[in-house]
Amino acid sequence: MKGDDSMNIVILSGSNVGSKTKVATEKAMEIMTKNNQDYEVTMLDLADYEMEFSDGRNYFEYEGDTKYVAETMMAADAIIIGTPIFQASIPATLKNVFDLLPVNAFLDKVVSIIVTAGTAKHYLIAEQQLKPILAYMKAHIVPTYVFIEEADFLREEIINDDVHFRLERLVEDTILNVEAQQIIREKLDEQYDF
Ligand SMILES: Cc1cc2nc3c(=O)[nH]c(=O)nc-3n(C[C@H](O)[C@H](O)[C@H](O)COP(=O)(O)O)c2cc1C
Repeated sequence: MKGDDSMNIVILSGSNVGSKTKVATEKAMEIMTKNNQDYEVTMLDLADYEMEFSDGRNYFEYEGDTKYVAETMMAADAIIIGTPIFQASIPATLKNVFDLLPVNAFLDKVVSIIVTAGTAKHYLIAEQQLKPILAYMKAHIVPTYVFIEEADFLREEIINDDVHFRLERLVEDTILNVEAQQIIREKLDEQYDF
């Protein structure tokens, strides 16, 4: 873990419009803070920030919100990324965050995914488009993601209990994966006598 011993978790809502992804990530935040009070949890909702487009600079050379979002992502041990599906892909706002970060940004980080979408036909978009980017950026990806459809929401609330269970499981899996990575790193350090 970075710096001190407390786990640093970031929950990112990857769109600057709409409400469903925000609702789903806020639910994950609620579960995370209720069950893991010792951990530092930061919510980043891209709707709250004025983000510059990536122009190839190092992430710490940006200013204001762009610098804050990029540095907060870089300091995390685990990131839960919430994203809507736009045109059979991820929104440009989320892609821009990836573009702002270095290629190895997710090395030693656990990354989990929550997707909201209009149609279940796009269930595999995260598998085909989001996971390859995360893998390229060296994330330890939690394999099972939570996919939430329009029918699971009513008036800005998740009304399907199964989605709540799946979000609880995702949060638990995220924490367990960070702890497992920590044990693996300690074993490697022992092996090489660092
Ligand atoms: C520009 C745009 C494109 C979309 N494209 C798709 C799509 O290709 N597939 C899909 O399942 N839903 C699509 N949707 C629906 C959204 O993914 C869905 O409503 C999502 O839950 C919206 O989340 P939000 O309220 O956080 O924006 C699209 C919505 C918008 C606004």
